[in-house]
Amino acid sequence: MHVLITAGPTREPIDPVRFLSNRSSGKMGYALAQAALDAGHRVTLVSGPVHLLPPPAAELHVVQTAQQMWQTVRNIVTLHPPSLAILSAAVADYRPKFLQPEKIKKNADTITLELERTPDILGSMRQPFGYQGYLAGFAAETQNLIHHAQTKLNRKQCDVIIANDVSRNDTGFDSDQNEVILCFPGDHVEAVPMQSKHDLATLLIQRLVNLAIEKSPSPPS
Ligand code: PMT
Repeated sequence: MHVLITAGPTREPIDPVRFLSNRSSGKMGYALAQAALDAGHRVTLVSGPVHLLPPPAAELHVVQTAQQMWQTVRNIVTLHPPSLAILSAAVADYRPKFLQPEKIKKNADTITLELERTPDILGSMRQPFGYQGYLAGFAAETQNLIHHAQTKLNRKQCDVIIANDVSRNDTGFDSDQNEVILCFPGDHVEAVPMQSKHDLATLLIQRLVNLAIEKSPSPPS
């Protein structure tokens, strides 16, 4: 089966030396890529900037910005649609509206950055990308985990949202372990206890591949 995975943060430039980003290390997405390869699947990994060695057998696309990740995922979905797409990247929701061509000088006591929304990659998968395979998104929340995840599940037309609590230091961003809740349509939820991201990825790949086969019983691409 062809599995598409996004991983890591994006970087949204402010000027030639500064950017907006977040704490994603890419560990969760890279563990998913390795687990899918270990299970014998073909993996396309679209990654933001991280300090991890990519699984050598993955087809790797490294991007910097949300716009580049959106374009890269659109090309893959259009040209080689995967049977399973897992969007675990922590894509910046906002970017500076104007890129300053020169380094901003430290003259004023305060400055204001005007931000604009980035393209929503997960929210573009069904429309306009036309993706029909099994679609798994993540949700990083600090409160009302299940409620916010279910809102994203519906708004972004996903088959499942994998929700993690990122208010804690021992799970979520940049830790070696994670604890998630799978949120399916119809308010069905399944809690997966804390474990290493390696073990969690193995479990998630098994589960999601089976669900992708159920959704599309024809020979997987
Ligand atoms: O990388 P690690 O350090 O291992 O940490 C793992 C993780 C915490 C980053 C990961 O488990 C996780 O939760 N990833 C999603 C982070 C996130 O951006 O969540 P969100 O709730 O803001 O976004 C919801 C979904 O929409 C995500 O699938 C995200 O990839 C997607 N999205 C968001 C914004 C945007 N512009 N485009 C998107 O596709």
